[in-house]
Amino acid sequence: MGALVALLGAAILGLVPAAPASAQRATGVVECRNCHANRDFLVGKAATLKGDSALYITDSLLHDSKHATLSCTSCHPAFAGGYPHRDTSVVAVPCQSCHEKEGADYARSVHAPDAATGGSAPSCVTCHGAHHVLAAADPRSPTYPLNVAGLCGGCHANAKIIGTYFGAPDQAQARNAVPQYYKTVHGIAMTKAGLVVSATCNDCHGSHLILLPDSAQSTINRVNIARTCGRCHAGVLATFDSSSHGQALRSGARTPTGHSAPVCIDCHPAHQLVSASDPVWFRGVVKECGACHEEEYGTYFETYHGQVTELGFGITAKCSDCHTAHAMLPATDPKSSVYPTNLVATCAQCHPQANANFVKYQPHGDPRNRARYPLLFWTWLFMTTLLVSVFAFFGVHTLLWLGRLTLNRLHGRPLNGHPERPGKEGQS
Ligand code: HEC
Ligand code: HEC
Ligand code: HEC
Ligand code: HEC
Ligand code: HEC
Ligand code: HEC
Ligand code: HEC
Ligand code: HEC
Ligand code: HEC
Ligand code: HEC
Ligand code: HEC
Repeated sequence: MGALVALLGAAILGLVPAAPASAQRATGVVECRNCHANRDFLVGKAATLKGDSALYITDSLLHDSKHATLSCTSCHPAFAGGYPHRDTSVVAVPCQSCHEKEGADYARSVHAPDAATGGSAPSCVTCHGAHHVLAAADPRSPTYPLNVAGLCGGCHANAKIIGTYFGAPDQAQARNAVPQYYKTVHGIAMTKAGLVVSATCNDCHGSHLILLPDSAQSTINRVNIARTCGRCHAGVLATFDSSSHGQALRSGARTPTGHSAPVCIDCHPAHQLVSASDPVWFRGVVKECGACHEEEYGTYFETYHGQVTELGFGITAKCSDCHTAHAMLPATDPKSSVYPTNLVATCAQCHPQANANFVKYQPHGDPRNRARYPLLFWTWLFMTTLLVSVFAFFGVHTLLWLGRLTLNRLHGRPLNGHPERPGKEGQS
């Protein structure tokens, strides 16, 4: 679109030479360029100056596009009869008459209904232009990765459009999507590092079948999001798929407290996505794990690791240091990082002296949980019983002692059976 506007601007300034009238061929085919590439001829033909320059469509504009093989009449069959143009009710055939797949996807998108009724949502031409249509790999194209955020942002960061379409209280995400994107790892990689393989709007939302997240076919629906991210993060996807979380996502398994499996965006919110080494995010993930694994979260904060984490220090063990970022498996699985024979290596990441004895330490030890920690339970029970008996014994002893003391006083007997010391009698 930008390139088209620039070209038209250049044309008005006379930078692009118009095809000379002598180019007219006597073939009987109407040469559109005779008029549409002739700026002088077009002056005043439309109602406005802008309208005049819109009529200025050169062959070279078309030949520089992906449609170089097409002729003007491929898209404008109704104009083939020459001038004056008689039936101008259908200006051009719809793009989807040749691009069926994109047309069908677009027709089901959030944009189509609004565009069809004259709203602000984009049509094919809004995103691709009508004549200077370029491939997404062409840096001049609005669909080139480095330009896409600008294309979508042209509307999604436009205060007027936001006010009209996304004013509802529950649409904060839609209101802030673009400025947030620029602050994400992906946005920074794209706009600052110029990394075209980073993610931009259409990598996650699609280009044509753009849908709300609750729609089952949406690329950002919970069920599909791992695959959307996994198109680029293929290694993470493979690990995630074979983890307890990936398995639970497919099987519908839940935690003992009834939570279903997490997906990428639970831990890495797409529009707030930061580097995995960000300490603030890291502390947030511990909370996120805890939202589903309440019991382990509770016991974690009773340990040294948890308390240090709570104080805000980054170096100590977080959930994912022991359970890995994406390969969490039950402790009974030999591939698990917390499987007994793998524990030494897991702890040794930070405790180089770790050995079989060291890893007897229970990171989630809960003495009240007899089924999971029987040894801890019986030790706790023994110690508690001992403590209670000792206190009970001395408690009873003290009570008896007090009773004896009171009786002695009432009977005027000395405490220890010896006669009362002189001078005490008669006092008080
Ligand atoms: C003799 C000059 C002349 C020739 C040749 C000519 N046009 Fe046009 N065309 C015009 C003018 C003037 C207008 C704008 C005023 C109008 O629509 O009558 C126009 C308008 C158009 C429009 C816009 C219609 C609309 O309603 O927005 C299209 C599309 C178009 N021409 C396509 C073509 C195509 C395709 C060819 C070649 C097959 C062609 N023209 C040949 C002079 C010409
Ligand atoms: C790939 C299809 C395609 C081809 C090929 C094509 N056009 Fe168009 N043209 C369109 C579409 C679509 C529009 C309507 C644009 C819009 O909706 O703003 C259009 C609009 C126009 C207009 C009207 C512009 C306006 O806004 O008033 C003219 C004039 C025109 N085309 C001329 C040509 C000429 C001359 C050629 C050959 C050099 C050509 N077109 C080739 C698709 C095409
Ligand atoms: C008459 C059939 C026809 C129409 C109508 C048509 N196209 Fe095309 N389109 C083609 C052909 C043919 C190609 C070239 C494919 C190639 O080179 O591999 C193409 C290529 C493209 C490409 C580049 C695809 C790529 O591989 O990078 C885009 C984008 C595109 N068209 C968009 C549009 C848009 C937008 C419209 C409407 C303004 C439109 N097309 C209308 C036939 C058409
Ligand atoms: C919201 C903007 C937007 C709209 C609306 C849109 N497109 Fe696209 N289109 C894109 C982007 C971005 C790409 C680049 C996709 C990519 O990188 O693979 C693209 C790619 C394409 C391609 C090339 C496909 C390929 O594999 O390279 C074609 C053809 C195409 N669009 C046709 C259409 C047609 C036809 C319509 C209307 C029915 C349309 N587009 C509407 C943004 C849009
Ligand atoms: C020409 C302006 C325009 C462009 C360009 C545009 N959009 Fe939109 N978009 C809209 C409008 C307007 C709506 C609201 C449609 C409605 O609610 O009927 C919308 C809706 C959406 C929604 C649904 C939001 C919600 O909460 O309802 C998403 C997601 C979206 N667009 C993503 C994109 C992406 C991704 C791109 C770029 C590939 C893009 N849009 C390009 C105007 C645009
Ligand atoms: C890394 C993937 C990713 C990128 C890049 C991305 N988005 Fe999103 N976007 C999402 C996800 C996932 C959601 C749903 C948020 C949620 O469920 O919390 C979303 C939500 C949205 C919404 C709100 C939809 C709704 O629920 O109302 C809009 C609008 C939007 N994105 C537009 C954009 C635009 C424009 C860009 C580019 C500037 C972009 N997104 C870049 C993944 C992405
Ligand atoms: C349950 C939470 C969780 C889920 C679900 C999750 N991640 Fe992660 N991810 C993490 C944690 C924690 C780290 C940081 C690990 C570290 O650096 O020690 C991380 C790190 C990353 C990294 C950086 C590489 C690294 O290991 O440091 C990428 C890329 C990534 N995740 C992508 C994804 C993708 C893609 C998905 C979905 C297929 C996903 N994540 C699902 C928690 C999660
Ligand atoms: C189009 C490819 C692509 C898609 C799709 C994509 N990413 Fe990325 N992602 C990248 C690239 C490239 C980087 C590296 C950026 C950098 O290092 O500056 C990255 C970086 C990351 C990081 C930071 C890694 C680190 O080392 O700290 C995380 C986390 C991440 N992506 C998660 C996701 C999630 C979650 C999704 C899906 C919602 C997703 N990505 C979708 C390409 C993609
Ligand atoms: C949205 C909820 C949710 C979040 C967030 C979550 N998990 Fe899980 N987790 C599950 C479910 C569901 C299972 C599978 C339970 C099952 O199969 O019994 C599971 C399984 C596990 C397992 C294997 C236990 C087993 O019995 O299979 C470990 C270890 C684990 N998660 C650790 C973590 C860690 C560490 C984090 C944070 C980085 C985390 N989880 C975040 C829901 C969650
Ligand atoms: C210092 C290492 C370490 C840290 C930190 C840690 N865990 Fe564990 N976790 C273990 C070990 C070892 C086991 C297996 C023994 C057990 O069940 O107590 C385990 C067991 C689990 C299980 C049960 C697995 C099964 O087989 O049923 C879950 C779920 C879990 N942890 C989640 C978490 C969550 C959530 C956090 C953070 C709040 C966390 N862990 C922090 C080491 C750790
Ligand atoms: C990501 C690094 C990391 C991992 C992994 C880790 N720890 Fe720690 N742990 C620490 C740090 C840091 C401290 C505090 C060290 C200090 O002050 O001496 C600590 C403290 C401890 C303490 C208390 C030490 C004391 O002097 O009281 C124990 C016990 C312990 N860890 C056991 C384990 C076990 C068992 C594992 C493996 C299941 C493990 N840790 C995994 C970082 C880690």
